[in-house]
Formats: sequence, structure tokens, C-alpha cells
Amino acid sequence: MPRLSVNIDHVATVREARKTFEPEPVAAAVMAQLGGADGIIVHLREDRRHIQDRDVYLLKEVVSTKLNLEMAATDEIVRIALNVKPDMATLVPERREELTTEGGLDVAGNLSRIAETVSTLKRGGIRVSLFVDPSLDQVAAAKRAGADIIEIHTGAYAEADSEAEAEQRFRDAAVAARKAYTLGLRVAVGHGLTYHNVKRFTRIPEIEEFSIGHSIISRAVLVGLERAVRDMAALLKD
Ligand code: PXP
Repeated sequence: MPRLSVNIDHVATVREARKTFEPEPVAAAVMAQLGGADGIIVHLREDRRHIQDRDVYLLKEVVSTKLNLEMAATDEIVRIALNVKPDMATLVPERREELTTEGGLDVAGNLSRIAETVSTLKRGGIRVSLFVDPSLDQVAAAKRAGADIIEIHTGAYAEADSEAEAEQRFRDAAVAARKAYTLGLRVAVGHGLTYHNVKRFTRIPEIEEFSIGHSIISRAVLVGLERAVRDMAALLKD
């Protein structure tokens, strides 16, 4: 049975829109776990656009399932990861001007630097996942870099312009998952997965885990809106 890890970055995005204290990502993590999440993911970006350092420290105390810290392989964030000691870290590429993570990590092109970061984190007792495009070269490089897990980037699948292209991207992911599995890597998938496009990935037996954020938080805003308005209307009329 595949597991679901929920990325709660966008709870913090709403908070940071006003630089206030709500909604509280730690509360969101607790509720996601109540709902059945098998893990909580946050991305501590260098520009701190959503998740803040204090969130990560508090989540480490509160998350009882598994805390996965998404991060760039920079000295500053590696230092924080070694202090916090999340259950696992996922190394991702990061560019300040991007809206969200845009591509997989080029492990093959930066093997020694990434292998060094993987080894530093693992020495700190943190399992390491590498976020890679569904490319056999990148999967093989992730193994050489010492990763425990790969997360296959499903963005190209999610953004496919036609069903034929989506099917091809899906097959690319299936082939990459198989290769990773045969190399002894554990396999996750994520990015751009929604209630409408995720189901077919459950046909890939090597996938242990789904990392899903934006679509779940988007749905939460709408399924919770009626109740929230009702509560405010009742307060005003009381
Ligand atoms: N996995 C990784 C490595 C990511 O960078 C992200 C986005 O932060 C996700 C999964 C979740 O993607 P989405 O928010 O599109 O579900």
C-alpha cells in the first residue's frame, strides 16, 4: 500500500501573505496526520518565502509520523537540517525566481558535491532522498551518490498537453521506478499530482510513497470555506 506524505508549504504561504500567525503550519500537520497522512513535508527555502526556521523546529517536536525536510544542498540549510534532525531530507534544486521546484536535481552533473551532502546528512542520522527527473542516468547517479530514496519528479507528466504525452511521461516514470528499485533504492513520486491525475501511479508497484501538497491544500481551502463563513456569520449575528 503506497503511503501519502503531505506537503504543507502552502499553509505557510497564506500565513506569510500577511506575515501573521495564522494559519499555523504546525496545526495543519497535526490535522493532516489525523486525516491519515503518513508523513509531513516542508521545504525550507533559502528565501524563506513560506516555511520559516521556527516551523521546522516545532514540526520536529510535533510530527509523530515522519518529517521530510525538502532542501537545497547549501551550507546554511544543511547546518539547520543537522540541528533539527528530521527523519529524512529530500535534496531539490532551488532557484530564487521560480514559483516552485521546476526540475529534478542534476545528480549526474554534480555527483561529487551531492554525494558529499548526502554523506554529511546520513552521518547526522538523516535518511536522504534525491528529487530527480525520470531519467535512467539520474537514477543511476542517485545510487552512486549514496541516496537511500529517490523521488521521481512528476511535473512533466502533470503538465503534459495531451493524453498521449501524459501516458509517455507516465511510462518514463514507471521505467525509472523499476530501475531505481533494482538498484536497491526506495521510490517516491511527487510534484503536480492532483485528485484527477494521481490514480494511474498506483499501478506502479515500486512506488512506496506519494508527496502531494498544492492540490490537497487547494481542496482544503474550498471544502473548509463554507464552514468558516458560517462560523463568522454566526459570530456577527450572535
Ligand atoms: N516533491 C517535491 C520534491 C517538491 O518540491 C514539491 C513541491 O514543493 C512536491 C513534492 C509537492 O508538489 P505539489 O505541491 O505540486 O503537490
